[in-house]
Amino acid sequence: MKILMVCLGNICRSPLAEGILSKILPENFTVDSAGTISLHEGEHPDKRAIETAKNHGIDISGQKSRPVTVHDLQNFDHIYCMDLSVFEDVISLAQNEEQRKKIALFLEEAGNYGENTDVPDPYWSGMDGFEKVFLLLEESCEKIKTKLLTPKS
Ligand code: 4NP
Repeated sequence: MKILMVCLGNICRSPLAEGILSKILPENFTVDSAGTISLHEGEHPDKRAIETAKNHGIDISGQKSRPVTVHDLQNFDHIYCMDLSVFEDVISLAQNEEQRKKIALFLEEAGNYGENTDVPDPYWSGMDGFEKVFLLLEESCEKIKTKLLTPKS
């Protein structure tokens, strides 16, 4: 089972989500992440994201930003988008209904949204913003894990 986390730059939210989910899922799951823009392609995650993950015992320093591709929509089983504009951009890449069905809003899939379905972008915030986003991602990844590991009846 292959899971892809997608945000805008692939240096803040989706690298954190990748790090968290890959830590808590069994080894037969593959977790990767990508961005809808290629501005940061080849870069490691934002220093503040690396530091926040490290504070929680997760090493994301080896990850590298890459743009999401049409191939990803064939290759992955579930594609979780960090906000609505990312979701719309990824949906626009889908070539058929089978691919569209794989694409979901991350918070909606986790059933973990209040006023809106967007994971706030911490890029313009300080470390406190990264910590808040980490905790939201962690809680949501636990819910997604339960969903993924519960057999469908
Ligand atoms: P991310 O955050 O989508 O969570 O990786 C951002 C990273 C970079 C930019 C915006 C958001 N940027 O505009 O460069």
